[in-house]
Amino acid sequence: MTRTAIQDFEFQGYLVQKGDQVVVGTTVPHQLPQFYPNPDRFDIDRYLPDRKENKKPGVFAPFGIGSHTCLGAGFAEILINLNMAVLLTTVDLEMVDPHYNLKVDPIPTPSPDKNFKIRVIKHR
Ligand code: HEM
Repeated sequence: MTRTAIQDFEFQGYLVQKGDQVVVGTTVPHQLPQFYPNPDRFDIDRYLPDRKENKKPGVFAPFGIGSHTCLGAGFAEILINLNMAVLLTTVDLEMVDPHYNLKVDPIPTPSPDKNFKIRVIKHR
């Protein structure tokens, strides 16, 4: 996310001056092992109450942080779950390349890179 500083401030030893353009990498912590051990591993148990890795303050921010946090966050989460539920119950899928290794493309939001391809092999 880009922001324009409205006043001078210091961050981690850097002086940011009023009017400077700042890029805030809100999703960078999502890949940092100090917050998410073994961050590239699919580990759904991260979200269980005894671990709550996504609940550390300021760490999990796919919808931004602050006064401009995504207005559609709840809607988007429902749509994502709904789409996955419909897909997984109506079609069988397979990887086009079964040996594909996940690479993350960070722009515009972190996603599998363009070589991540799946195809429908059967309609149920
Ligand atoms: C996975 C889906 C989505 C992601 C990852 C996402 C992410 C974001 C992020 C990071 C921001 C903050 C941008 C900033 O602060 O500069 C934002 C803002 C916003 N999003 Fe989303 N969004 C998603 C879906 C949606 C949907 C479905 C809607 C509407 C139905 C929506 C409506 C908005 C609006 C209106 C803002 C601007 C809020 C403001 O400036 O006060 N988003 N979104």
